[in-house]
Amino acid sequence: MTVIDLKNVTRKFGDLTAVRSVSLSMEKGICYALLGPNGAGKTTLSKMIGGVLPRHEGEMRVLGMDPWKMQSEVKAHLGVVMQSDALDDELNVLENLRIYGLFFWLKGRAFRERVAELLEFVSLTGREKMPTQALSGGMKRRLLIARALLSDPEILLLDEPTTGLDPQVRQVIWTTLRKLMEKGMTILLTTHYMEEASQLADRVGILDQGQLITEGSPTELIHRTLPSCVLEFDERESPGDAAVPDGSLVEHHGDRVYVFDDDETALRNWLGEHGISAPHLRQTSLEDVFLKLTGRGLHE
Ligand SMILES: Nc1ncnc2c1ncn2[C@@H]1O[C@H](COP(=O)(O)OP(=O)(O)OP(=O)(O)O)[C@@H](O)[C@H]1O
Ligand SMILES: [Mg+2]
Repeated sequence: MTVIDLKNVTRKFGDLTAVRSVSLSMEKGICYALLGPNGAGKTTLSKMIGGVLPRHEGEMRVLGMDPWKMQSEVKAHLGVVMQSDALDDELNVLENLRIYGLFFWLKGRAFRERVAELLEFVSLTGREKMPTQALSGGMKRRLLIARALLSDPEILLLDEPTTGLDPQVRQVIWTTLRKLMEKGMTILLTTHYMEEASQLADRVGILDQGQLITEGSPTELIHRTLPSCVLEFDERESPGDAAVPDGSLVEHHGDRVYVFDDDETALRNWLGEHGISAPHLRQTSLEDVFLKLTGRGLHE
């Protein structure tokens, strides 16, 4: 069952086309990661799907409905954590949830039971009375996820859920999202972290300057774009492009050289012959795909 379906969706801000003719569809229960550098259009696309921003062109269906024309119906089935979302710092954890719950008429015992379940789910049990300004960044993000889940949504839109968080908290959030996926939740996640996409996503779309430049499962994207192994080293160590093994692909990004080949042994042998210091021989990653297709790193 297709739950999100976009055809040639375009959004402009004055002369700038922030999202350009994007088509994508998402089946129920999958996690779709939108990757892209700053300004690629990820938030703009998420906002259109969430029914908070109108599109200028194209067709859009979320659970069969037009998210702009049927805003409240669509919103009732969506849990959303936008990049700019904040908690009310004047209020404590429980009060923040209570105010939000009222949008869905969630109160009394039903509210208390749901909150207990969700706080446990995001590992915030016992912090009900804590002022939200006293929460760490990671706790705030987990509370925002719990808040988005209050209405028991069918789809979760998460705009950079782990940006700026330490690796341990990031893992905690990934575990939470995995549990939701096991329960059949459909998740659209935007991220700058290719590891996040590789760990969680069934499908990945790379957005660059408003355009969806490629799409597929993480392994599909890697296999379609580049050989499976890569040798990475400092430009100053390079013996020159002509010296690489036959059939290898050489890429230069910043002060790094990348030699791609499906034959790991060939790369290893070549390394032995050339005495390059501090080389890094590894499997090709989504970050390599991103660099190859956009010429830029995910964090640039
Ligand atoms: N309300 C707005 N008014 C004018 N321009 C906007 C507005 N919102 C976004 N833009 C522009 O649209 C483009 C896409 O922005 P968007 O926030 O969607 O990017 P993003 O991929 O989410 O970036 P980031 O990774 O920094 O969050 C940018 O050039 C941005 O400046
Ligand atoms: Mg954004």
